[in-house]
Amino acid sequence: MALKFVDELELENKRVLARFDFNVPLDSDGNITDTTRIDLALPTIKHILEAGCSKLILMSHLGRPKGQVKKEFSLEPVATYLAEALEEDVVLTESALDRGIKTLLDLNETKIVLLENIRFHPEEEKNDHDFAKQLSEYGDVYINDAFGTAHRKHASTYEINAFFKGSAAGGFLMKNEIEALNKIVNKPERPFVAITGGAKVSDKLKIIERLLTTVDSLIIGGAMAYPFLKAKGYTVGSSMCSDSDVELARKLLLHGSSSKIMLPVDHIVSDDIEGNPETIKDVNIPDGMIGLDIGPESLAVFNSKLDRAKTILWNGPMGLFENAHFAKGTTGIAQSLSMNTGYTLVGGGDSVAAVKKSGLSAKMGHVSTGGGASLEYIEQGSLPGIQALKFGIS
Ligand code: 3PG
Repeated sequence: MALKFVDELELENKRVLARFDFNVPLDSDGNITDTTRIDLALPTIKHILEAGCSKLILMSHLGRPKGQVKKEFSLEPVATYLAEALEEDVVLTESALDRGIKTLLDLNETKIVLLENIRFHPEEEKNDHDFAKQLSEYGDVYINDAFGTAHRKHASTYEINAFFKGSAAGGFLMKNEIEALNKIVNKPERPFVAITGGAKVSDKLKIIERLLTTVDSLIIGGAMAYPFLKAKGYTVGSSMCSDSDVELARKLLLHGSSSKIMLPVDHIVSDDIEGNPETIKDVNIPDGMIGLDIGPESLAVFNSKLDRAKTILWNGPMGLFENAHFAKGTTGIAQSLSMNTGYTLVGGGDSVAAVKKSGLSAKMGHVSTGGGASLEYIEQGSLPGIQALKFGIS
Protein backbone atom coordinates (compact mmCIF):
# COMPACT_ATOMS: atom_id res chain seq x y z
CA MET A 1 0.00 0.00 0.00
CA ALA A 2 1.44 3.37 -0.97
CA LEU A 3 1.62 6.16 1.55
CA LYS A 4 -0.79 8.99 0.71
CA PHE A 5 0.30 12.60 0.89
CA VAL A 6 -1.64 15.72 1.74
CA ASP A 7 -2.23 16.78 -1.88
CA GLU A 8 -4.03 13.46 -2.53
CA LEU A 9 -6.78 14.06 0.05
CA GLU A 10 -9.96 16.10 -0.41
CA LEU A 11 -9.68 18.90 2.15
CA GLU A 12 -12.35 21.37 1.08
CA ASN A 13 -14.67 22.26 3.98
CA LYS A 14 -12.97 19.62 6.12
CA ARG A 15 -11.65 20.01 9.63
CA VAL A 16 -8.00 19.08 9.25
CA LEU A 17 -6.14 17.81 12.30
CA ALA A 18 -2.40 17.99 11.63
CA ARG A 19 0.58 16.77 13.70
CA PHE A 20 3.84 18.67 13.26
CA ASP A 21 7.20 18.59 15.01
CA PHE A 22 7.46 22.15 16.32
CA ASN A 23 10.04 21.01 18.86
CA VAL A 24 12.30 24.02 18.27
CA PRO A 25 15.16 25.23 20.45
CA LEU A 26 14.36 28.18 22.76
CA ASP A 27 16.73 30.53 24.60
CA SER A 28 16.29 31.35 28.29
CA ASP A 29 13.90 34.19 27.38
CA GLY A 30 11.68 31.80 25.43
CA ASN A 31 12.75 33.05 21.99
CA ILE A 32 13.03 30.48 19.21
CA THR A 33 16.69 30.21 18.22
CA ASP A 34 16.19 28.06 15.13
CA THR A 35 12.87 28.16 13.26
CA THR A 36 13.82 25.56 10.62
CA ARG A 37 11.31 22.94 11.78
CA ILE A 38 8.43 25.43 11.62
CA ASP A 39 9.59 26.95 8.33
CA LEU A 40 9.73 23.52 6.72
CA ALA A 41 6.17 22.79 7.91
CA LEU A 42 4.77 25.92 6.25
CA PRO A 43 4.28 24.41 2.75
CA THR A 44 1.97 21.75 4.22
CA ILE A 45 0.09 24.28 6.35
CA LYS A 46 -0.33 26.65 3.40
CA HIS A 47 -1.50 23.83 1.16
CA ILE A 48 -4.18 22.80 3.68
CA LEU A 49 -5.40 26.39 3.98
CA GLU A 50 -5.38 26.96 0.22
CA ALA A 51 -7.25 23.69 -0.35
CA GLY A 52 -10.19 25.28 1.50
CA CYS A 53 -10.24 23.46 4.83
CA SER A 54 -12.91 24.73 7.21
CA LYS A 55 -10.58 24.53 10.23
CA LEU A 56 -6.95 23.67 10.75
CA ILE A 57 -6.09 22.17 14.13
CA LEU A 58 -2.35 21.93 14.71
CA MET A 59 -0.70 19.60 17.23
CA SER A 60 2.89 19.33 18.41
CA HIS A 61 5.08 18.61 21.38
CA LEU A 62 7.88 20.84 22.63
CA GLY A 63 10.68 19.47 24.79
CA ARG A 64 10.19 16.74 27.35
CA PRO A 65 7.76 18.03 30.03
CA LYS A 66 7.10 14.40 31.03
CA GLY A 67 3.32 14.60 31.22
CA GLN A 68 3.25 17.77 33.31
CA VAL A 69 2.20 21.31 32.50
CA LYS A 70 5.43 23.30 32.46
CA LYS A 71 5.24 26.88 31.32
CA GLU A 72 8.71 26.85 29.79
CA PHE A 73 7.50 24.22 27.32
CA SER A 74 4.43 26.17 26.19
CA LEU A 75 3.89 26.41 22.43
CA GLU A 76 3.19 30.13 22.80
CA PRO A 77 6.35 31.26 20.93
CA VAL A 78 5.42 28.84 18.14
CA ALA A 79 1.87 30.27 17.93
CA THR A 80 3.30 33.80 17.67
CA TYR A 81 5.79 32.79 14.99
CA LEU A 82 3.16 30.90 12.98
CA ALA A 83 0.73 33.83 13.10
CA GLU A 84 3.44 36.12 11.70
CA ALA A 85 4.55 33.66 9.03
CA LEU A 86 0.98 32.91 7.90
CA GLU A 87 -0.37 36.43 8.44
CA GLU A 88 -3.39 34.79 10.07
CA ASP A 89 -4.65 34.51 13.63
CA VAL A 90 -3.49 31.38 15.41
CA VAL A 91 -5.45 30.55 18.56
CA LEU A 92 -3.41 28.67 21.16
CA THR A 93 -5.62 26.55 23.43
CA GLU A 94 -5.05 26.25 27.19
CA SER A 95 -4.59 22.53 26.85
CA ALA A 96 -5.02 19.90 24.16
CA LEU A 97 -8.19 18.71 25.89
CA ASP A 98 -9.62 22.13 26.66
CA ARG A 99 -13.39 21.87 27.14
CA GLY A 100 -13.83 24.97 25.01
CA ILE A 101 -12.09 23.62 21.92
CA LYS A 102 -15.19 22.13 20.33
CA THR A 103 -17.09 25.39 20.85
CA LEU A 104 -14.12 27.30 19.45
CA LEU A 105 -14.19 25.11 16.35
CA ASP A 106 -17.85 25.97 15.81
CA LEU A 107 -17.11 29.68 15.59
CA ASN A 108 -16.95 31.04 12.05
CA GLU A 109 -14.12 33.42 12.83
CA THR A 110 -11.78 30.70 14.11
CA LYS A 111 -9.68 29.15 11.38
CA ILE A 112 -6.36 28.03 12.83
CA VAL A 113 -6.07 26.48 16.27
CA LEU A 114 -2.84 25.28 17.85
CA LEU A 115 -3.36 22.79 20.67
CA GLU A 116 -1.08 23.47 23.65
CA ASN A 117 1.89 21.08 24.06
CA ILE A 118 0.56 17.58 23.59
CA ARG A 119 3.18 16.21 26.03
CA PHE A 120 1.58 18.10 28.92
CA HIS A 121 -0.65 15.00 28.98
CA PRO A 122 1.03 11.76 30.15
CA GLU A 123 -1.34 9.83 27.86
CA GLU A 124 0.50 11.16 24.79
CA GLU A 125 3.73 9.25 25.38
CA LYS A 126 1.76 6.23 26.65
CA ASN A 127 0.13 6.03 23.21
CA ASP A 128 -3.21 6.03 25.05
CA HIS A 129 -6.17 4.94 22.96
CA ASP A 130 -8.81 7.15 24.66
CA PHE A 131 -6.57 10.21 24.49
CA ALA A 132 -5.98 9.59 20.78
CA LYS A 133 -9.75 9.23 20.35
CA GLN A 134 -10.40 12.57 22.07
CA LEU A 135 -7.86 14.27 19.81
CA SER A 136 -9.29 12.59 16.74
CA GLU A 137 -12.69 14.15 17.42
CA TYR A 138 -11.34 17.58 16.41
CA GLY A 139 -10.77 16.58 12.78
CA ASP A 140 -12.35 14.86 9.78
CA VAL A 141 -8.95 14.27 8.23
CA TYR A 142 -5.54 13.62 9.82
CA ILE A 143 -2.23 14.83 8.40
CA ASN A 144 1.10 13.81 9.88
CA ASP A 145 4.05 16.01 8.93
CA ALA A 146 6.04 15.38 12.11
CA PHE A 147 8.92 13.41 10.62
CA GLY A 148 11.18 14.27 13.58
CA THR A 149 8.75 12.45 15.91
CA ALA A 150 7.77 9.58 13.63
CA HIS A 151 10.08 7.19 15.52
CA ARG A 152 7.91 7.67 18.62
CA LYS A 153 4.86 5.46 19.09
CA HIS A 154 2.78 8.18 20.73
CA ALA A 155 -0.94 8.91 20.77
CA SER A 156 -0.80 11.82 18.31
CA THR A 157 1.60 10.08 15.93
CA TYR A 158 0.59 6.43 16.19
CA GLU A 159 -2.64 5.44 17.96
CA ILE A 160 -4.59 8.29 16.39
CA ASN A 161 -4.39 6.53 13.03
CA ALA A 162 -6.99 4.06 14.35
CA PHE A 163 -9.60 6.80 13.89
CA PHE A 164 -8.71 7.98 10.39
CA LYS A 165 -8.84 4.92 8.16
CA GLY A 166 -8.70 6.16 4.56
CA SER A 167 -8.57 9.79 5.65
CA ALA A 168 -4.96 10.14 6.79
CA ALA A 169 -1.92 11.33 4.86
CA GLY A 170 1.64 12.53 5.25
CA GLY A 171 2.68 16.15 4.76
CA PHE A 172 5.25 17.52 2.32
CA LEU A 173 8.05 17.61 4.89
CA MET A 174 7.41 13.93 5.63
CA LYS A 175 7.50 13.24 1.88
CA ASN A 176 10.82 15.08 1.38
CA GLU A 177 12.44 13.31 4.31
CA ILE A 178 11.33 9.87 3.13
CA GLU A 179 12.52 10.53 -0.44
CA ALA A 180 15.89 11.82 0.79
CA LEU A 181 16.46 8.96 3.22
CA ASN A 182 15.43 6.38 0.65
CA LYS A 183 18.37 7.51 -1.48
CA ILE A 184 20.58 6.27 1.35
CA VAL A 185 18.53 3.21 2.31
CA ASN A 186 17.78 1.89 -1.20
CA LYS A 187 20.70 1.34 -3.56
CA PRO A 188 22.91 4.36 -2.77
CA GLU A 189 25.25 5.36 -5.58
CA ARG A 190 28.74 4.07 -4.81
CA PRO A 191 31.18 4.69 -3.30
CA PHE A 192 28.92 5.25 -0.29
CA VAL A 193 30.73 6.74 2.70
CA ALA A 194 29.19 7.35 6.11
CA ILE A 195 30.71 9.57 8.75
CA THR A 196 29.67 9.12 12.33
CA GLY A 197 30.74 10.92 15.47
CA GLY A 198 29.21 12.08 18.71
CA ALA A 199 29.65 10.93 22.24
CA LYS A 200 28.60 7.37 22.92
CA VAL A 201 29.07 4.14 20.99
CA SER A 202 26.05 2.64 22.81
CA ASP A 203 23.78 5.35 21.31
CA LYS A 204 24.84 4.46 17.78
CA LEU A 205 25.50 0.75 18.07
CA LYS A 206 22.62 -0.33 15.83
CA ILE A 207 23.27 2.27 13.15
CA ILE A 208 26.99 1.37 13.06
CA GLU A 209 26.11 -2.32 12.64
CA ARG A 210 23.64 -1.49 9.89
CA LEU A 211 26.01 0.89 8.11
CA LEU A 212 28.86 -1.60 8.16
CA THR A 213 26.81 -3.89 5.96
CA THR A 214 25.85 -1.18 3.44
CA VAL A 215 28.66 1.41 3.19
CA ASP A 216 31.98 1.19 1.37
CA SER A 217 33.73 3.11 4.15
CA LEU A 218 32.68 4.17 7.64
CA ILE A 219 34.56 7.13 9.08
CA ILE A 220 34.37 7.31 12.87
CA GLY A 221 35.44 10.56 14.54
CA GLY A 222 34.63 12.67 17.57
CA ALA A 223 34.42 11.09 21.01
CA MET A 224 33.01 7.99 19.30
CA ALA A 225 36.50 7.19 17.99
CA TYR A 226 38.29 6.82 21.35
CA PRO A 227 36.67 3.54 22.46
CA PHE A 228 37.57 2.07 19.05
CA LEU A 229 41.17 3.28 19.35
CA LYS A 230 41.42 1.90 22.89
CA ALA A 231 39.93 -1.42 21.78
CA LYS A 232 42.68 -1.57 19.14
CA GLY A 233 45.33 -1.08 21.82
CA TYR A 234 46.12 2.63 21.43
CA THR A 235 46.24 4.99 24.40
CA VAL A 236 43.50 7.62 24.70
CA GLY A 237 44.74 9.66 27.70
CA SER A 238 41.80 11.23 29.57
CA SER A 239 39.48 11.25 26.54
CA MET A 240 35.82 10.37 26.94
CA CYS A 241 35.86 6.58 26.85
CA SER A 242 33.77 4.31 29.08
CA ASP A 243 34.69 0.66 29.60
CA SER A 244 31.30 -0.44 28.28
CA ASP A 245 31.85 1.56 25.06
CA VAL A 246 35.30 -0.03 24.64
CA GLU A 247 33.62 -3.42 24.97
CA LEU A 248 31.02 -2.52 22.33
CA ALA A 249 33.73 -1.15 20.05
CA ARG A 250 35.70 -4.38 20.47
CA LYS A 251 32.68 -6.38 19.35
CA LEU A 252 32.12 -4.10 16.35
CA LEU A 253 35.77 -4.51 15.38
CA LEU A 254 35.11 -8.26 15.11
CA HIS A 255 32.33 -7.59 12.57
CA GLY A 256 33.00 -9.19 9.19
CA SER A 257 33.07 -5.73 7.54
CA SER A 258 35.12 -3.93 10.19
CA SER A 259 37.90 -3.29 7.64
CA LYS A 260 35.61 -0.53 6.32
CA ILE A 261 36.10 1.45 9.54
CA MET A 262 38.42 4.47 9.33
CA LEU A 263 39.63 6.06 12.57
CA PRO A 264 41.60 9.25 13.30
CA VAL A 265 45.36 9.02 12.90
CA ASP A 266 46.13 12.22 14.84
CA HIS A 267 44.31 14.49 17.28
CA ILE A 268 43.74 17.94 18.69
CA VAL A 269 43.96 17.62 22.46
CA SER A 270 44.03 19.72 25.60
CA ASP A 271 44.37 19.08 29.32
CA ASP A 272 40.98 20.75 29.84
CA ILE A 273 37.92 21.20 27.63
CA GLU A 274 38.31 24.95 28.10
CA GLY A 275 42.08 24.76 27.60
CA ASN A 276 44.38 25.58 24.68
CA PRO A 277 44.50 23.19 21.73
CA GLU A 278 47.57 21.11 20.96
CA THR A 279 48.15 18.91 17.93
CA ILE A 280 49.31 15.34 18.57
CA LYS A 281 50.83 13.86 15.40
CA ASP A 282 50.22 10.31 16.56
CA VAL A 283 47.33 7.91 17.04
CA ASN A 284 48.18 7.58 20.73
CA ILE A 285 47.00 10.31 23.10
CA PRO A 286 49.37 10.91 26.04
CA ASP A 287 48.32 10.59 29.69
CA GLY A 288 46.35 13.54 31.07
CA MET A 289 45.37 14.81 27.61
CA ILE A 290 41.78 14.83 26.32
CA GLY A 291 41.08 14.23 22.64
CA LEU A 292 38.74 17.04 21.53
CA ASP A 293 38.97 17.05 17.73
CA ILE A 294 40.45 15.04 14.89
CA GLY A 295 43.88 16.26 13.76
CA PRO A 296 44.84 17.76 10.35
CA GLU A 297 46.21 14.49 8.98
CA SER A 298 42.97 12.65 9.88
CA LEU A 299 40.95 15.36 8.16
CA ALA A 300 43.10 15.03 5.03
CA VAL A 301 42.75 11.23 4.99
CA PHE A 302 38.97 11.41 5.57
CA ASN A 303 38.55 14.12 2.93
CA SER A 304 40.41 12.14 0.31
CA LYS A 305 37.88 9.33 0.88
CA LEU A 306 34.97 11.78 0.79
CA ASP A 307 36.21 13.45 -2.43
CA ARG A 308 35.62 10.23 -4.34
CA ALA A 309 32.29 9.37 -2.69
CA LYS A 310 29.04 9.48 -4.69
CA THR A 311 26.81 9.19 -1.60
CA ILE A 312 27.66 10.56 1.85
CA LEU A 313 25.74 10.25 5.09
CA TRP A 314 26.93 12.39 7.99
CA ASN A 315 25.79 11.94 11.56
CA GLY A 316 27.74 13.34 14.48
CA PRO A 317 30.50 15.96 14.85
CA MET A 318 34.24 15.25 14.78
CA GLY A 319 34.94 17.01 18.06
CA LEU A 320 33.78 19.62 20.53
CA PHE A 321 32.81 21.96 17.68
CA GLU A 322 30.92 24.36 19.97
CA ASN A 323 34.39 25.55 21.06
CA ALA A 324 36.21 27.21 18.12
CA HIS A 325 39.52 25.66 19.24
CA PHE A 326 38.11 22.21 18.52
CA ALA A 327 35.87 22.88 15.52
CA LYS A 328 38.31 22.47 12.61
CA GLY A 329 37.60 18.79 12.04
CA THR A 330 33.83 19.25 12.00
CA THR A 331 33.99 22.39 9.84
CA GLY A 332 36.43 20.66 7.50
CA ILE A 333 34.01 17.77 6.99
CA ALA A 334 31.14 20.24 6.39
CA GLN A 335 33.26 22.00 3.75
CA SER A 336 34.17 18.76 2.08
CA LEU A 337 30.49 17.75 1.86
CA SER A 338 29.54 21.19 0.55
CA MET A 339 31.90 20.70 -2.41
CA ASN A 340 30.94 17.10 -3.15
CA THR A 341 29.06 16.60 -6.41
CA GLY A 342 27.38 13.39 -5.22
CA TYR A 343 24.42 13.08 -2.84
CA THR A 344 25.03 14.35 0.69
CA LEU A 345 22.66 13.83 3.61
CA VAL A 346 23.18 15.27 7.07
CA GLY A 347 21.09 13.82 9.91
CA GLY A 348 21.25 14.08 13.67
CA GLY A 349 20.98 17.13 15.90
CA ASP A 350 24.67 17.95 16.42
CA SER A 351 25.87 17.54 12.85
CA VAL A 352 22.89 19.55 11.62
CA ALA A 353 23.78 22.28 14.13
CA ALA A 354 27.41 22.16 12.92
CA VAL A 355 26.38 22.49 9.28
CA LYS A 356 24.10 25.42 10.13
CA LYS A 357 26.84 27.07 12.18
CA SER A 358 29.21 26.83 9.23
CA GLY A 359 26.54 28.40 6.96
CA LEU A 360 26.70 25.47 4.54
CA SER A 361 23.20 23.95 4.90
CA ALA A 362 22.10 25.10 1.45
CA LYS A 363 25.02 23.23 -0.14
CA MET A 364 23.96 19.85 1.27
CA GLY A 365 21.75 17.44 -0.66
CA HIS A 366 19.45 17.12 2.34
CA VAL A 367 19.58 18.27 5.95
CA SER A 368 17.15 16.16 7.94
CA THR A 369 14.84 17.69 10.55
CA GLY A 370 14.93 14.39 12.42
CA GLY A 371 17.71 13.46 14.83
CA GLY A 372 16.74 10.07 16.22
CA ALA A 373 14.11 9.68 13.50
CA SER A 374 16.58 9.86 10.59
CA LEU A 375 18.89 7.32 12.23
CA GLU A 376 16.08 4.91 13.00
CA TYR A 377 14.78 5.26 9.46
CA ILE A 378 18.19 4.25 8.10
CA GLU A 379 18.41 1.35 10.56
CA GLN A 380 14.92 0.01 9.91
CA GLY A 381 13.87 1.36 6.52
CA SER A 382 10.73 2.96 8.02
CA LEU A 383 9.32 4.34 11.29
CA PRO A 384 6.27 3.46 13.44
CA GLY A 385 4.56 6.80 12.68
CA ILE A 386 4.99 6.25 8.95
CA GLN A 387 3.85 2.63 9.07
CA ALA A 388 0.72 3.58 11.03
CA LEU A 389 -0.05 6.32 8.52
CA LYS A 390 0.44 3.93 5.64
CA PHE A 391 -1.41 0.88 6.90
CA GLY A 392 -3.57 2.31 9.67
CA ILE A 393 -3.82 0.42 12.95
CA SER A 394 -6.62 -1.64 14.36
C1 3PG B 1 13.45 15.54 18.26
O1 3PG B 1 13.79 16.67 18.61
O2 3PG B 1 14.29 14.68 17.90
C2 3PG B 1 12.00 15.22 18.14
O3 3PG B 1 11.20 16.34 18.33
C3 3PG B 1 11.61 14.12 19.10
O4 3PG B 1 11.80 14.55 20.41
P1 3PG B 1 12.03 13.48 21.57
O5 3PG B 1 13.40 12.89 21.36
O6 3PG B 1 11.90 14.25 22.85
O7 3PG B 1 10.96 12.42 21.42
